[in-house]
Amino acid sequence: MKKISRREALKMAALAGGAVLIPIGLQNRGYAQFGGGVVPFTLPFRRPPLLNPVRKDSTTDYYQIIMRKSQVEILPGRTTEIWGYNGVFPGPLIRQSKGRRSVVRFINELDVNTAIHLHGMESPPQYDGYATDGILRGYYKDYVYPNNLAATYWYHDHGHGQTTRNVYMGLAGMYIVQDNEELALQLPQGDYDVPLIVQDRRFTSTGLFDLNTNNQTNVMDDVILVNGVPWPYMQVANRKYRFRVLNASSSRSYRFTLSTGDNLIAIGTDGGLMASPVNTQELRIAPGERYEVIIDFSKYPIGTQVELRNLPLPSNTESPNTDRIMRFDVVRAETDNSSVPNVLRNIELIPESAAVRTRDFVLDQINGRWVMNNNGWDVNRIDFNIPSNDVEIWRFLHPVNVGIHPMHLHGIKLQMLDRNGQPPLPYERGWKDVFYVGEAETVRVIGRFGSQAGRFMYHCHNTVHEDFAMMSQFDMGQGGVNPTSARAKPLPAPPL
Ligand code: C2O
Ligand code: CU
Ligand code: CU
Repeated sequence: MKKISRREALKMAALAGGAVLIPIGLQNRGYAQFGGGVVPFTLPFRRPPLLNPVRKDSTTDYYQIIMRKSQVEILPGRTTEIWGYNGVFPGPLIRQSKGRRSVVRFINELDVNTAIHLHGMESPPQYDGYATDGILRGYYKDYVYPNNLAATYWYHDHGHGQTTRNVYMGLAGMYIVQDNEELALQLPQGDYDVPLIVQDRRFTSTGLFDLNTNNQTNVMDDVILVNGVPWPYMQVANRKYRFRVLNASSSRSYRFTLSTGDNLIAIGTDGGLMASPVNTQELRIAPGERYEVIIDFSKYPIGTQVELRNLPLPSNTESPNTDRIMRFDVVRAETDNSSVPNVLRNIELIPESAAVRTRDFVLDQINGRWVMNNNGWDVNRIDFNIPSNDVEIWRFLHPVNVGIHPMHLHGIKLQMLDRNGQPPLPYERGWKDVFYVGEAETVRVIGRFGSQAGRFMYHCHNTVHEDFAMMSQFDMGQGGVNPTSARAKPLPAPPL
């Protein structure tokens, strides 16, 4: 019998019905009820709207996104002010084909400075959302993206020191690149290829977002949103679906599992498809990570309800319904021509012997500041230069027994070698750009650096840590373009 922690006991008491026991310390916030008063699985699922290009030419698709405030209904009958890409929360979905170039014009009508990062894309430095390459109110910037790898990306704000606030207010969206090899696999496609952007939020009693970073430590909120909807239910057919799961929360990690006890079939990581599918009862995902999973509803009779649940994690703070995510209601029969082949993609493992050096990064908190090797962000400090094509091992050392650090590198995809000397989780064996470094863990990753030259950031993707100031930068190769060499320009903008 597993020992039950105090936190779990509290939650079980709450779930058992009757009086909800509210832990001291959570009573002083300005919201009316836990979970914004929402009963889970009462609101319909929705997908982020698809963004169409404003123009296309032979090589490039041109998009436009205006960052602006808007009032949206997240809690039934209440209005929440968001800062949204095109005023929607989360932002619109971009679907692009590998090899086509995107130019995305971001126009800033917000009162704050923004910087847009397309997370996972190996963008040139001047289009990577460098922390001090901001767009002021009344300015715009055209970001150019190469789309050189089929994968699930996301674009989000990277404003210096304000990433938590800006993303929390709504500045995040999904961006998908697909290619012909992947389409040929006959995985579930089109309407059956579904974004799941998972975030936690807290609301004031009047329905506003209520950001609290718990003294610059983390954000652990009580409403779970999927694509901006609290605990939605989704009506599905009795067939396979492909879900692209993005944890766009500030600090909370999730450990997904199905209420039926059936497996999730993991098929993709941050950097696209895995070598082959991985059946798993649970799937853990830290902020910034993406996983793609197939759920096969064909075995369930029409009328079955399948919950996507969230198992406890030691460094999460739970609230009464944070153990639930969403529910799938199997409502109709359909024939399913999709398949999940045993071989998804050829992934060449980088052998440890290919590495020319190892770098260590000690993750710690000193005098309240989050640091790597005793350093926080300094725009004038470049940690090192990695010659083009060097293979390196990065070792993240987290000696502390509390908290986790999802470590993220810009400009490169890597592979996990091991965690505390043990092999990675089966579904972590693919191309990745965020690595879950848990309590008292040491994680080693390996990558070939410098496919493009330039200056790139690396940081913890708990955005509270990132802002305060667990972030640094390095150079790859020679002759890289200065990341601030393509500054935003004042409006009005010429036609795209
Ligand atoms: Cu998603 Cu530098 O971050
Ligand atoms: Cu990134
Ligand atoms: Cu961290």
